[in-house]
Amino acid sequence: MDAAIAEACRRSARKHGTPLYLYDLPRLEADAAALTSAFPAPWLRLYALKANPLPKLTGRLPGLGFGATAVSAGELDLARRAGFRNASIALEGIGKTDHELWLAVEAAETPDPLLWVSLESADEAAQLAAFARLAGVAVDVLVRLNPGVQPETLGGLAVGAADSKFGVLADELPTVIEAGGGPDGPLRWRGLHLHVGSQLGAVDAWRSAFRVGLRLLSLQRAALPDFDTLDIGSGFPVAYGVDGSVPEPRRFAEAAADEVAALPADARPARLAVEPGRAIVAACGWLVGRVLHVRERVWADGLSRLIVLDTGMTELIRPALYGAEHPIVALTSHGRPAPADGPVSLARIDGPICESTDRLGTADLPPLVRDDLVAIGVAGAYGSAMSMTYNGRPRPAEVGWDGRRLTVLRRRGTEASLA
Ligand code: LLP
Repeated sequence: MDAAIAEACRRSARKHGTPLYLYDLPRLEADAAALTSAFPAPWLRLYALKANPLPKLTGRLPGLGFGATAVSAGELDLARRAGFRNASIALEGIGKTDHELWLAVEAAETPDPLLWVSLESADEAAQLAAFARLAGVAVDVLVRLNPGVQPETLGGLAVGAADSKFGVLADELPTVIEAGGGPDGPLRWRGLHLHVGSQLGAVDAWRSAFRVGLRLLSLQRAALPDFDTLDIGSGFPVAYGVDGSVPEPRRFAEAAADEVAALPADARPARLAVEPGRAIVAACGWLVGRVLHVRERVWADGLSRLIVLDTGMTELIRPALYGAEHPIVALTSHGRPAPADGPVSLARIDGPICESTDRLGTADLPPLVRDDLVAIGVAGAYGSAMSMTYNGRPRPAEVGWDGRRLTVLRRRGTEASLA
């Protein structure tokens, strides 16, 4: 951990208490720039808000050339609060309600319609078409395709497998188009949307899905002249520092370029889009907690300490939910900044929640006593976004660090807000 970030975490814990999320804003901008350099225009880069929808954080992305994907009315609102224009927001998600479909129709009635709606089923196509007909507007849509590939990731993060609930199978596509009013109805059929899974360990399944998407897109083009867009979703992994190296976004972009080059010019899509979430916000986020208990234990597996923090699965559920591993570092030892080269020993770090799965992981840590500070790294994606108030715990404070100054991005929740 960089010494300046460690100091920023200590300062913000003193000022705002714990648990607390700290976001290293220069790192966010560097990671966004890496995505842009891998997928420059004409690629559309749509930030997946679900990874971290905090408007004061994501508000930096429209200015960096990103649009957004929103999966609910709530995310649509959060996207607009962050400054994303409708024309750069795609509405998607497995379970859109009538209210959410109607919001897309309402936007289509203004000069600033949504970029597109990604349809998950024939039912959804029929409902959106009915609303669009009622309002007398046209709505741009993609169809979410289940590519039937088995990606290299944790089981819970693989959504492109044929038995997953996401998207329609290729042979269901004509039924969806028919249900949505066909080629001459109120929906403008613009192309396909795919997403094979998150935190991909290799490029292969993503490349196969991209190829499936390209082929199907060009096959449909004869009947649907506007069917010109392939949104390949995301899956770009980040290094959690505990699971070896992962392919960089550039490797995915190279695979896509190869696949496009293999097609005749007139079969290539006019628009290509990616939807990175994790690769933009994960590495910039640190979850800072405070030691509540240190118990010396002798276990067969060599562990000698059990440490309980004031933060756990309520703020960062990934370890408990997926067995995900995050780096864990001490910010202080006996109340002083933890030395980089002092003695360490293995410890298990647990949270304070009344669940035995409430574990954050294991790490080599220096001597720790009650009140020492600990940080969990690479926590900016699916951390705060998936937090909950179980056990009567208000939301943690969230703070941005620009390299010099700390700014509150969201205040700590209050106890009164739990009632
Ligand atoms: N596009 C679609 C359609 C998605 O479903 C997702 C993530 C993304 C884009 C963004 O994927 P990313 O760039 O972040 O890999 N809670 C899990 C991750 C769930 C991902 C859900 N979909 C975790 O903590 O790892």
